[in-house]
Amino acid sequence: MVVGPDVAGHGSRSAAPVVPGRLPLLGHTMSLLSTPFRFLSTLRSHGEVVQIYLGTLPMYVVTSPELAWQVLATDADRFDKGMIFDKVRPLFGNGLLNSDGDFNRRQRRLMQPAFHRKRIAGYVQTMAKAASELVESWRPGEVVAVDEQMDSLALSIVGQTLFSTELGRDAVAEVQRSMPILSKYLAIRAFTPRFADRLPIPANRRYDEAAARFRRVVAEVIVAARAEGKDHGDLLSTLLLARDEDTGEGMSDQQVHDEVVTILTAGAETTAVALAWFFYELGRHPEVQRRFHAEIDHVLAGRLATFEDIPKLEYTQRIIREVLRKYPLLLLMRRARTHVDLGGVHIEPGTEVAFSQYALHHDPHLYPDPARFDPDRWLPDRAAKLPKGAFVPFGGGLHHCPGYSFAETEIAIVAATVAARWRLVPVAGKPVRPRLTATMRPSRLSMTTMPRHA
Ligand code: HEM
Repeated sequence: MVVGPDVAGHGSRSAAPVVPGRLPLLGHTMSLLSTPFRFLSTLRSHGEVVQIYLGTLPMYVVTSPELAWQVLATDADRFDKGMIFDKVRPLFGNGLLNSDGDFNRRQRRLMQPAFHRKRIAGYVQTMAKAASELVESWRPGEVVAVDEQMDSLALSIVGQTLFSTELGRDAVAEVQRSMPILSKYLAIRAFTPRFADRLPIPANRRYDEAAARFRRVVAEVIVAARAEGKDHGDLLSTLLLARDEDTGEGMSDQQVHDEVVTILTAGAETTAVALAWFFYELGRHPEVQRRFHAEIDHVLAGRLATFEDIPKLEYTQRIIREVLRKYPLLLLMRRARTHVDLGGVHIEPGTEVAFSQYALHHDPHLYPDPARFDPDRWLPDRAAKLPKGAFVPFGGGLHHCPGYSFAETEIAIVAATVAARWRLVPVAGKPVRPRLTATMRPSRLSMTTMPRHA
């Protein structure tokens, strides 16, 4: 049985329509989990502000870039992070991704040095070395699982920039084991009702065990690093040594722990997924690939890429933007702290509000022929016409991703390192589709390695 059409008024000036297809108890959860991309893209046809139900919990979804920007940036301090973040709190604790208000601001200030340009320039060597080791291990004509290899590479890069010590290496190995399990179940957990987390089913057991192992191994590295008290020049040292300018206070071990877990989770899969789609799209677009290779050969002339090369890789950066447009996170969520007016709809404090980055990035009014992969959309005169909120792969406003420059640098360095030696060719007859985990992952992406130069 489908619950009939209805509108939710809240005594407001106008009402947000409830999206058709709501089921008793389940709400729209099944549509969201089974056909998430299609479901979220259809919401704009019902209005600029609509209501969906996660189980029995109502959630308002805004569908225009202007309202998305209001939620993210203009009215950012009228919102907390919301339900999805409550659900993942047992894993992330009070790390940046999961905190709000003054505490979040203080933590962002303390962590800023870790993401400063100068620091990122220092991480480039780690990025290039890890990418080189991977491409050196490939043999001509070998079929590689690009999705899996990018996962492992991105985790190893963020892991090595966090922990440069011997003990850190063991931690990275453990994180490599637990992260795929966590990532597989995180989105399901986030969108299903709370009681489902406690059901004695294998999925919950696997998730809980992986989360416990992951948190334990990170805790061990922190205790050891604090006891040693040295600055190893890695991200962990930056976190341990950070001091609040006003109070002189640093972070507790528990807080460092939560930030490390957050960085590992927020920084690895997101970047790996972007890299996998980068190679996928190159493989399907020979002209894009030709221009990309020409730029890499011209700028790098056979040497490893450095931080200073990145601004010169203009076409590469347009490809990266187009990848981030086409394959963003599915949904960002917030909870209203105060009364808010969204496009004439009154939102009560405590109400869950969301918007879909995927739906915005595939809105044909903003991006003609949105399914087409076209890096030249990002030529400056074309990109300048987009309204704020139309391109938000890293969010915006108060919680704008602090790792954006890290991620863009890593994608450029890895792509350039691969391109210096290899062309990756799609394996015929193996269709690749996006699937929903915490990010928009490709299904198995098998590609054949072809040497570019004899
Ligand atoms: C392509 C790669 C990446 C994408 C698409 C991405 C996307 C995002 C988005 C959309 C947000 C905002 C979430 C919200 O507003 O609710 C965010 C926040 C965050 N990201 Fe990233 N990210 C990427 C890479 C990274 C990296 C490499 C790191 C760290 C090394 C990182 C660390 C964080 C943290 C700590 C936050 C929380 C900030 C806060 O809430 O104040 N991200 N990211």
